[in-house]
Amino acid sequence: MMPETGLVCYRTCGLSNPASLATYLSVGGYSVWKKILAEKTPVEQIIEELKASGLRGRGGAGFPTGLKWSFVPRNAPGSKYVVCNSDESEPGTCKDRDILRYNPHQIIEGMAIAGYVMNATKGYNYIRGEYWEPFYAMEKALKEAREAGLLGQNILGSGIEFDLDNCIGAGAYICGEETALLNSLEGKRGLPRFKPPFPANHGLYGRPTNINNTETYASVPVILEKGGKWFADLGIPNSGGVKCFSVSGHVEKPGNFEIPMGTPFAKLLEMAGGVWKGRKLKAVIPGGSSSKIIPAETMLKLNMDYDSIAKDGGSMLGSGAVVIMDETTDMVKALWRIAYFYMEESCGQCTPCREGTGWMTRMLRRILDGQGQAGDLEKLVDVAGKIEGHTICGLGDAAAWPVQSYVAKYRPEFEHYITHKRAMDGLV
Ligand SMILES: Cc1cc2nc3c(=O)[nH]c(=O)nc-3n(C[C@H](O)[C@H](O)[C@H](O)COP(=O)(O)O)c2cc1C
Repeated sequence: MMPETGLVCYRTCGLSNPASLATYLSVGGYSVWKKILAEKTPVEQIIEELKASGLRGRGGAGFPTGLKWSFVPRNAPGSKYVVCNSDESEPGTCKDRDILRYNPHQIIEGMAIAGYVMNATKGYNYIRGEYWEPFYAMEKALKEAREAGLLGQNILGSGIEFDLDNCIGAGAYICGEETALLNSLEGKRGLPRFKPPFPANHGLYGRPTNINNTETYASVPVILEKGGKWFADLGIPNSGGVKCFSVSGHVEKPGNFEIPMGTPFAKLLEMAGGVWKGRKLKAVIPGGSSSKIIPAETMLKLNMDYDSIAKDGGSMLGSGAVVIMDETTDMVKALWRIAYFYMEESCGQCTPCREGTGWMTRMLRRILDGQGQAGDLEKLVDVAGKIEGHTICGLGDAAAWPVQSYVAKYRPEFEHYITHKRAMDGLV
């Protein structure tokens, strides 16, 4: 279902033919790009506006976007690149899909502005392998933008050049990790690279590259149109603006919602129709399957912003994928399913991740099959601890955190399986 109209990334949602150039122009689209082309806005001014907006990367880590944009050496000789991360494979996350499908021109405009700032003439949008419909929506929008003269060489007579291409992945979660994505774009296996060097200095084809999430780029045109302060004031200190959240799981109305940062979780749950079938809330995954689980009693007191979820909830806002679990959820089964995912998606490059994700998955399966033994939980948490922080990229941490938090928060359920060879009564 199309999200309701939002203030920033979902601003064309709900309008007729939302993905078209005509609709985008009707909401003020490309006005910032045209102004930049005409006035040659100083790059520092754009970066300062982004810093003032408080925009933080929407791909998961929440790194301040204005600061990131200032890192790329724009005056370095030779090619520089702008890359958009539309891989969106973290389970529970589907917010970027709706920007790609319903507001693709705003991503193009955001990337073009980034191209101007980085002095880059080429961009790539790397789209998740399963996202064929969003890919075609982006392709159509690109064609329209080129035909309207908004991309290409000497754009609207400005002397500025920028063009971009969409690239569809092959369906690998690891290719959402920025350096694996760059390898994949280069036609290599999607294996993460060591950092440093960071992409800002040594990115695509070894050249300076700026990489941001889809929602991050799509936020830029509106921020520059309405002002950094306008955006910042929509949210709260340290979590500026609005953010798109995907709500899934045991709710009546799953979907994407663009809401101000700092909105109480209870309000978001209400927007998603509340817990389904009149049941009680048991727990919430606040930011994609890798984020630590938060029990209902805590979650209902939290707000949807970086600090509230991290400091008061002990988890992270991540990609903004909120998974709701009702009172019947079997936490052992839920964790096994998540562990299985990370085992399947580990690229295998780092031993702790390659071996550890398999260990954890098999132990959880054994517990579920009624063959758990005393000491299994200690071993499980020990293996998770040996993965965490010991891998090239964040996939290892992503696999370890759920194991650590589910066992810590719902230990009696795991012990019940080991002792009684089945789930606690009432759990499915
Ligand atoms: C295993 C793994 C998967 C990731 N998947 C995605 C993804 O699908 N989309 C995304 O934007 N960022 C993803 N990231 C984060 C990116 O590496 C990177 O931080 C992000 O694209 C930066 O953009 P931002 O600053 O706009 O958030 C992933 C990271 C890891 C470790």
